[in-house]
Amino acid sequence: MKILIASSIDPSAIEALERDHDVVRAFNAPEERLVELIRDREVVVFRSGVTVSAAVLDHAPNLTLLVRAGSGLDNVDVAHATDRGVQVVRVPGSSAQPVAELTFALLLSLVRNVTLADRLLRDGHWPKADLGGPLLAGKTLGIAGAGRIGSRVGAMAAAWGMRVLGCVADANPGVATSLASAGIALTDFDTVVTESDFLCLHVPLDERTQHMVDASVLARMKRGSFLVNMARGGVVDEEALLEALTKGRTLLGAALDVHEKEGEGVMSPLRALPNVVLTPHIGAMAWDAQRLIGERVVELVRAAERGCLDELVQPDEQVRQVAQ
Ligand code: MLT
Repeated sequence: MKILIASSIDPSAIEALERDHDVVRAFNAPEERLVELIRDREVVVFRSGVTVSAAVLDHAPNLTLLVRAGSGLDNVDVAHATDRGVQVVRVPGSSAQPVAELTFALLLSLVRNVTLADRLLRDGHWPKADLGGPLLAGKTLGIAGAGRIGSRVGAMAAAWGMRVLGCVADANPGVATSLASAGIALTDFDTVVTESDFLCLHVPLDERTQHMVDASVLARMKRGSFLVNMARGGVVDEEALLEALTKGRTLLGAALDVHEKEGEGVMSPLRALPNVVLTPHIGAMAWDAQRLIGERVVELVRAAERGCLDELVQPDEQVRQVAQ
């Protein structure tokens, strides 16, 4: 098959695809380059950092399959792909655990000043007395988006002795029961915001969640609380966050793995603040997880070539018109 690998995926998967197919690789290309690259391609494999827009799709007459090597769908026009008869599949399962683990890395980094301590020590300082911080145990962790990733974070937090609250877009008694078995009390967004010492974001980015955390939400957060964004940059109004962290009275710190603007050379407006931890969208970047995602991408492409993709694809991998 003629494949465009538009994002960096596991090297073994790239090797396997290159062995069996006609592969073009071009990572994180802008739209004007993508429209050129996609012209004769039948399959595109991509992650975040590249946007498969309607305009890009309109330049791909031979395209039959989009493989999202991960979970987020905010960077692909699923409706337009579906209209054009292009099947969209994703590989969401293996990225949940690494994102949940990085959430804890950022939580610990925030409360125990890990990155700040490292920076100061490298500069020759020994500011032991200034680097205290709260325990996680005994505090309340709130999860906006207690789905595949959020519920893992909640289960981990409960195991650490935290009280855990969570909310989901479509709550029902079944969800409440399964969250309760992981130690998570299902509630509404407002309760999660106002009662949490740590507010963790794990929602997909769509029209309902764009700037879900804005100035008014930040003002309602518990005094002395922390925010962790593992979802998508657009879920948080970063201008309002900067304002809240510098002038507000509620937030003590924030950690962001995802940003309103991402990519090489982009400077976060929050970078000067010592109570902020920033990482470059590395939530899913655990080696083991990327290897599994890569293997699944190769399997899906092979199945597409043999014409039996629908038999292989799992319900959570099949992307329908409405992004979940
Ligand atoms: C995802 O949605 O799977 C993650 O954000 C990882 C990525 O694609 O970079």
